[in-house]
Amino acid sequence: MNEQDPAKLSLSNFLAGETGDPLQAPPSFTKWMQVGAWAVKLYEPELLASADARTTIEYGGKPQQVINLCSYNYLGLANHREVIAAAQEALKTHGLGACGSPMLSGMTDLHRELERQIAEFLDREDAMLFNSGFGGALGTISGLLRKTDVALLDNRSHLSLRDGAVLSRCRTEKFEHNDPDSLEAALARQQGRRQLVIIEGIYSMDGDFGKLPELLAVADAYGAKVFVDEAHSILGCGENGRGAAEKFGVQDRFPLVYGTFSKAFGALGGFVAGPKETLQYLRFYAHPYVYSCALPPVIIAAILKALEIARREPELRTRLWENADYFHAQLRALGIDTGASTTYVMPLVIGDRERMYRLGHELRRRGLWVAPVDYPAVPQDRICFRACVTSQHTRADLDEALNILADTLVPGMMQSVAHA
Ligand SMILES: Cc1ncc(COP(=O)(O)O)c(C=O)c1O
Repeated sequence: MNEQDPAKLSLSNFLAGETGDPLQAPPSFTKWMQVGAWAVKLYEPELLASADARTTIEYGGKPQQVINLCSYNYLGLANHREVIAAAQEALKTHGLGACGSPMLSGMTDLHRELERQIAEFLDREDAMLFNSGFGGALGTISGLLRKTDVALLDNRSHLSLRDGAVLSRCRTEKFEHNDPDSLEAALARQQGRRQLVIIEGIYSMDGDFGKLPELLAVADAYGAKVFVDEAHSILGCGENGRGAAEKFGVQDRFPLVYGTFSKAFGALGGFVAGPKETLQYLRFYAHPYVYSCALPPVIIAAILKALEIARREPELRTRLWENADYFHAQLRALGIDTGASTTYVMPLVIGDRERMYRLGHELRRRGLWVAPVDYPAVPQDRICFRACVTSQHTRADLDEALNILADTLVPGMMQSVAHA
């Protein structure tokens, strides 16, 4: 039982079974949740409309209009008129569900077309689709790594990647976030085995770019392969939206490209693109692919349209970056700590848990929606809000958000941001 002061406990304290019944929550967890119910209310908010720059959520039992800095709708495609029309059309022709694993009955002509389009977009031989980004990362890593291999993971890696390595039962090594020297030491410790370095294009909590060229150079020196998760960077980064690898000019050095459809595509699912033979093998060994229903055709049609729009309108990406740069500059002027972020994903570091939850309520009351991020998702002293800027935010949206942040987070500062 956890008898400690509840304020000092975190999700990492409730991993031991406390009763004889594995289907019962640990009683100390339930008690902790009751004590912290006021803070827990910030989680699982109900979105009452689409994930647009301004939207409506439920707060305090009532609809609350908010500026949305929470959704990953980076290019505003989730509610794009043409995307919705494409989905509606597919609903008429293909119905709702795929009703089977892609292996047996869930594959449709739309799925095949999206595979082709993703492969062509990323200049790869082939692509395969997963019904979630999480399952795609987990399935790719666990489908390719074997017990005698080593996965070398950045210590801020997404859980889908870590869980994939755990499922493969390979050895795992962590290296310090984005630190080539730490990676080198880890590679040196594990020589003599097949090694896969696992990194991200943009880190989802810190909002910084992975140091792709530097880490690739170290991996090359040890003959290790590198896998990059482009979940947050696909469509948002690089001259053509092909991700962080394109931005750094190192696309050809990654045998596979993994990304999600849940972020800039505004939909759901994941993909991996690469050599035909690798993917043919993976199709049979990635459990989330073989043993789970294919994405609904209606989603596939929407993703196809989203890809078309993102390729046709590079100005969406330009606006996304203009907004991110503007927001960063204004946050810096307010003295708000955004850590190492240089992208459209930014932590607003608070550091103290209780203060973060109190401020989280205040921000929602004032009409600003940001995500609470608590330990162990981030270190204790980096407890923060996460804000995501999109191409759809207007200057007025961003200025209003900044004013709310100034009034709420920065003591003594009132309405400090000039209106455009
Ligand atoms: C880096 C990273 N990889 C993978 C995923 C999983 O993607 P999805 O949410 O599409 O399942 C996420 C989701 O947040 C992510 O941030």
